[in-house]
Amino acid sequence: MGILAWFGMKRSLLMISAVYPGSFDPITNGHLDIIERGSVIFDELIVAVLCNPDKKGAFAIDERVDLINRSIVHLKNVKVLSYGGLLINLLREINCRIILRGLRAVSDFENEFSMALMNDHLAPEIETMFMMTSMKHLYLRSSSIKELAYFGGDLKDLVPDAILYDVEKRLKK
Ligand code: PNS
Repeated sequence: MGILAWFGMKRSLLMISAVYPGSFDPITNGHLDIIERGSVIFDELIVAVLCNPDKKGAFAIDERVDLINRSIVHLKNVKVLSYGGLLINLLREINCRIILRGLRAVSDFENEFSMALMNDHLAPEIETMFMMTSMKHLYLRSSSIKELAYFGGDLKDLVPDAILYDVEKRLKK
């Protein structure tokens, strides 16, 4: 069964969809901000949890999907899925042509640029679009969330309220 059938999604040819991919280990308020703003721009936004071989995950993929699902209940045109292969193959499978990525600071740029260029080399029909992170989330990254929580720090305002307790409990040493 294809991924679309699995979700039971029916898409009109006029709908503009985008995939917002990432590790989401775990989802932060910075991610949620991009998802909320992306859901206004696109008819359908698909949040895709993929594997980043450079990062060792704290949460299992299914847990990450669950945390995202619990954070986006207010967004009716957002769906969440996980995928075990190349990002461009996911987009081709679900017939989507836009990758949405958030950009924080200049430090993100080189990595994002090389990923976008590699994806463009592999699939020129797919476009990567960047959205600037809001000022208040500039410093937010999942790795700092994990470190903070490990030492018992307060994650309020850093991760979505709906998952705050579970993320803190799960990551505390
Ligand atoms: O949140 P991240 O870790 O910056 O997200 C990176 C991610 C998961 C989107 C990226 O590593 C990815 O696309 N992984 C799947 C494999 C792939 O397609 N890599 C791109 C070729 S360079």
